[in-house]
Amino acid sequence: MHENRMSRWGLFAIICGFVLSPVGAIGQQAAKPEGPPRMAPAALYQPTLMPDRIVLTWTGDPTTSQAVTWRTSTEVSLAYAEITEAAASPWLEGKARRVTATTRPFKSDLSTCHVHTAEFKDLKPGVLYAYRVGDGVNWSEWFQFRTAASSPEPFCFLYFGDAQRGLHSLWSRVVREAFRHAPRAAFTLHAGDLVTTAEDDALWGEWFSAGSWLFASVPVIATPGNHDHVSVKKPDGTTVRQVSKYWPANFAFPRNGPEGLQECVYYVDYQNLRVICLNSVVRLQEQAAWLERVLSENDRTWTVVTCHYPVFSLARNRDNEDLRQEWKPLFDRYGVDLVLTGHDHVYGRTGLLMPEGSDAKGPAHAGTVYISSVSGPKMYELSKKHGVDFRRVAEDTQLYQVISIDGPVLRYEACTANGKLYDAFTLKKTPGQPKEFSEQIPAVPERRRPKKQS
Ligand SMILES: [Fe+2]
Repeated sequence: MHENRMSRWGLFAIICGFVLSPVGAIGQQAAKPEGPPRMAPAALYQPTLMPDRIVLTWTGDPTTSQAVTWRTSTEVSLAYAEITEAAASPWLEGKARRVTATTRPFKSDLSTCHVHTAEFKDLKPGVLYAYRVGDGVNWSEWFQFRTAASSPEPFCFLYFGDAQRGLHSLWSRVVREAFRHAPRAAFTLHAGDLVTTAEDDALWGEWFSAGSWLFASVPVIATPGNHDHVSVKKPDGTTVRQVSKYWPANFAFPRNGPEGLQECVYYVDYQNLRVICLNSVVRLQEQAAWLERVLSENDRTWTVVTCHYPVFSLARNRDNEDLRQEWKPLFDRYGVDLVLTGHDHVYGRTGLLMPEGSDAKGPAHAGTVYISSVSGPKMYELSKKHGVDFRRVAEDTQLYQVISIDGPVLRYEACTANGKLYDAFTLKKTPGQPKEFSEQIPAVPERRRPKKQS
């Protein structure tokens, strides 16, 4: 009865629309109702005299150094960073030492800005520092960060799969939930495709806005994904893929990688962990020789590799056989503990995979857990053929991961955007013994994409 009344009123309204509206004739488009004006990206993300997009990274030793990069309008030609040990007293300014930053112009699709990078050196290990950046008049707030300890203290870090799109509306909640979970995280690790269009300044504006002061307080480690690259036409007419100009402009990463791939391919030693970033999009073979050296010289207890493409794909019948050919034998030989990836827009985590041909337990250091995750809202479906036994998978789920290291024990937790534990395992190392691997998967049903209503 109620539905019938609504239908009659709906029909009446349509008839009135045709009769009364001057553009209501069949075949003509009705004028769209005026809504509030949309904020123009060029205005929303305009660089100003005030520093913004402030981000901590490492170029050197995390126990004694820290780099910071930020952006201003081109009117700012003087750029400084000031630092002092954090104290309860608010009189930081008088005690701070000043470092002059390097400044370079950067042209985006929306504006031209100045990008500044400063490096703090000769810091003390395990100390909380306060710093600010500015031109001597227009200063950021004082941010605080802690240098790495010189001995293997317990710590944790956050791992994010593809952020990519919906950065303002939907990725931001994942970043913030993750920081509520692990507010003392030593760094955040981003496994590529930070934005969906590499050279869209508004997307970078969203990415930095989602992280805001957290990126200025907790260092970022990132590896570029396919969406962080651009295609460039060479004079001979061929096209090559190369990392976007935004990558070195936004981040100051270590320059310890292979020639021509620096700041995309690098490693960072944080206490008893070596994090190795590889670029899975281009020049895999060239990276293999470098990777072998970095793995063979590694004296840390734990080794984590991050690259964008999964070694074992999970979605849309994708397969990255070249990764298994070029890099996996090295992961096997040197017992890389975790390989953290993205790209497939689903979640998948293997067990402790032993090198092919080794016995069930393998040598003392052997075995790798492979993970692909997603933090942004772009979602794919799981492929039916994985090629490997995934112990835990998910569709339609935004996730973040907390990885905690306490001496010989590594604890891994994957949590959903609403802060619920979805997957967990523990690795333990005892000298001369096989790596111990145990799972603590919570009693939560496997998450799948909702079926479409017929
Ligand atoms: Fe990707």
